[in-house]
Amino acid sequence: MNSATQRRRADYDEAPYGSSVRPVPSPDHLAAVAHLFGVDPPAVDTARVLEIGCASGANLLPFASAYPEATVVGIDLSGVQIAAGRHTAAAKGLRNVTLLHGDIAEFDLNPLGPFDFIVCHGVYSWVPDHVREAVLDTIRTALAPQGVAYVSYDVYPGWKTKEVLRDFLTRFDHPVGMPAERARRARTLIDFLGDVAPAGSELERLVLTYLSTSGQIGDNYLLHEELERFNSPCYFVDFVERLDAHELVYLADARPDTMYAANYAEEAAQRLIEECESQLELEQRLDFVGNRAFRQSLVVPACRAAQIRYDVGPARFPLLHFASRLPAADGFTRFDHSSQYYGEPGTRQIYTNDHGVKAALDVLTACWPHTVSWHRLTRAVRERLTGAGLEPPADLQTRIDMLLQMLIVRGLVCYRLDPVAPVDDPTAPSMFTR
Ligand SMILES: C[S@@+](CC[C@H](N)C(=O)[O-])C[C@H]1O[C@@H](n2cnc3c(N)ncnc32)[C@H](O)[C@@H]1O
Repeated sequence: MNSATQRRRADYDEAPYGSSVRPVPSPDHLAAVAHLFGVDPPAVDTARVLEIGCASGANLLPFASAYPEATVVGIDLSGVQIAAGRHTAAAKGLRNVTLLHGDIAEFDLNPLGPFDFIVCHGVYSWVPDHVREAVLDTIRTALAPQGVAYVSYDVYPGWKTKEVLRDFLTRFDHPVGMPAERARRARTLIDFLGDVAPAGSELERLVLTYLSTSGQIGDNYLLHEELERFNSPCYFVDFVERLDAHELVYLADARPDTMYAANYAEEAAQRLIEECESQLELEQRLDFVGNRAFRQSLVVPACRAAQIRYDVGPARFPLLHFASRLPAADGFTRFDHSSQYYGEPGTRQIYTNDHGVKAALDVLTACWPHTVSWHRLTRAVRERLTGAGLEPPADLQTRIDMLLQMLIVRGLVCYRLDPVAPVDDPTAPSMFTR
């Protein structure tokens, strides 16, 4: 283990990351997104799952508990975090979890594979170059041919501006002292910058933007993001190029709504679609338009490239289960051809006078936070319309599919390949907590 890696181990031993359950990298979400884009994923309930840089297992342990037939392996450099994870797994009686203390650049995980899902969240941009290579190498060699991997990373251009703040903090902060002391010094430095920034300047905007979001940022996040020894953002297309060198390809974003120009102003969306020759080019341009700073990419072996489809069509819907909460903004649905808004005020809303669409939104909202299958949704919409004394239109299925397509593109619906039903434990986190 080289000295840079030893320092990183000490950083995470002294200031554990403080992970929380993340629904986005969860294999059930990854499987549904892969299916949506044409790539059939392995079954989730019996999957072999690996997390690289699993910290104390906050992502893995809830999954292992929900899917006792799955096999779950995590590896992390920090012995302190792995010990904490092993302790929790033992206390919860989880027998399908193995947490390994080791360096991904040195540990040969192939004997434990192949894995159906490999998750690497919050690691790739924050490690030395040889570890980044090791992450992609592990995915190349340990991912099953039908498997799906997830890698999150910081990207430009969003990080260009954030780097100014990071450069200031790392230049004037001395990496000594206890983590809490370093975080306190960093906050003092940010306050100082805010005090001296000329009114209306770029610097003032930068500090204000940072402060507007930093209220929720804990010390550990600050230490492992702005003050992190290693933080190497890259452009999306450069990440894709690195995948190519490892016989891997980009499949989709774990937040598919970020992949579509339709979420921008109509004229801008039209220009973007006309100008871009490929999905990759479109997404790179969208990163510029949205000044994106962070990505969560799904990755598959290059041999599956031909299966990938970016037109999210109804052909992929019949196997999916959907969940969405978009109540009628004025309290209840009127079947009188009047137009109504659906969705909470202040959030993205749907405006419609279509009876089928209104009934579908009612059915989804009534089921939330649980899912309703594509087949059941259509049946329930028919029942709702006939119950209201209306004849369901002949093209009802098409209208429902167009609604689902629009909800997916706008990021207003969650979907899974397996149903999400009520659980016995009312305190269990919802699968769709975001
Ligand atoms: C920011 S934390 C992310 C933790 C977790 N994946 C999550 O989503 O909450 C990064 C983790 O990567 C681990 N890590 C860094 N370098 C590593 C390496 N070379 N091998 C294994 N783990 C490493 C750190 O110890 C740390 O726990």
